Parts: sequence; structure tokens; C-alpha cells
Amino acid sequence: MTLFTPDLEPGDLSRPGPDAVLVPGWLTLDQQERIVGQFHQWAAGPVPIRAAKVRGHEMSVRTVCLGWHWQPYQYTREATDVNGARVLPFPDWMVLLGRRALKEAGYTDARVAAYTPDTALVNFYDDTARLGMHQDKDERSLAPVVSLSIGDACTFRFGNTENRNKPYTDLQLRSGDLFVFGGASRLAYHGVTRVHPFTAPDGCGLKAGRINITMRMTGLDG
Ligand code: SIN
Ligand code: MN
Repeated sequence: MTLFTPDLEPGDLSRPGPDAVLVPGWLTLDQQERIVGQFHQWAAGPVPIRAAKVRGHEMSVRTVCLGWHWQPYQYTREATDVNGARVLPFPDWMVLLGRRALKEAGYTDARVAAYTPDTALVNFYDDTARLGMHQDKDERSLAPVVSLSIGDACTFRFGNTENRNKPYTDLQLRSGDLFVFGGASRLAYHGVTRVHPFTAPDGCGLKAGRINITMRMTGLDG
């Protein structure tokens, strides 16, 4: 039995897997509020926020995308499953935020400079929404995923790369938290088992519900 383990080992709440890092309270309330303001604009269109359909069933989470439009198993520039409109561009400020996130998570300067996320899935969860265990594997690139959470806290289940079952770690993702998963954890199964109502902090810009932004590199051109 190991009696003394380093503070930050896989299995630790701050490092629930290899190359997976939780940075609590990374975004200030002011930054959160500004992102929520942007979210309302993105959600209005040209491609309005919608529940994507997986094998004919609407997800309980609603999603609006930036850069590339995601629908189950593919990325396109036009939202062919919504209204055919072109997705909003990926904002430059978000590329810079994604790079700062990698720096914070301990990536080298060269990795940080090479990180140019080109899509963001912006998810809205009401207090009944859930996200089943899945891998983020519609991207051709295995660059890290940068996740930002705003509003109500959730229980986020971060698992293994083999299947949806144990071992997994249940974490709380709270307003302002940064979570980065790359490298050996890039294809780990993960999901949201519960949203915790009335936990959004005053000043985050959201009274109820949860926003999660995941930035990714698609590895697609054009
Ligand atoms: C996702 O898996 O794409 C979103 C995760 C989250 O909402 O924290
Ligand atoms: Mn995911």
C-alpha cells in the first residue's frame, strides 16, 4: 500500500486522468459575465441554439457552435441539420483564451503557440439536462480540449479511454472552472450526470442553468 502519494496524481480531483487538469475558478466573474453576454448573441443565430439529435433523439443539452458546426459525427460550415446557415466565425479572443488555458494547464510554450482551436461547442444545460458518457472523437486532431464552465455547478464524470464504465472520477465543475484534457486522456469517456440548481454565483451573468464551452481543433481545412 502506498502511504505517501504526490499531491497531483491521476485520480486526484485536480488531475482525474493523465494529461487532464482541473483549474478551479480560472475565469473571473467579470470574464464570465462577458462570455454570457456573448452567448446570448451566439444563441440568437444565424444558426440558433438547438438540441442536436443523436440517432433520432433530441439531446437534453442545447448547443450553438462557433467556427465549425457540430452535429453528431461531423463538422460542417453550414448547419445542414438546423437551417442551412453558415456558422459564426471562431473569435480571435477565444483562440487567445484557449492558449492561455493551455499555459495555465502546464503546456510548454511551443505547444501553447501551436494551439489554434477552430471550433467551440457552446452547451446550455437547464437543471434537468444531462450528457451521457461519450468520447470527443469527431475531430481529426488530437490537440487538447479546453472546457470552460459558467453558471450552475455540475457533476462531471471523467472516465477512461476504454469504455463508459469504471474507473471514473466524479468532479464538480463550478462557475469559472477550466478543465483541459489532452494527451493520454484526450479520448477519455466523459459526461455530465447532474446539474446543481441555485449554485450559480452572483455576478457570473447567468441566474440559472449552466453554460459549458469546449474549444477544440478539428484538423479540418476550408
Ligand atoms: C462536452 O462533453 O462536450 C461538454 C462537457 C461539459 O458540459 O462539461
Ligand atoms: Mn464531450
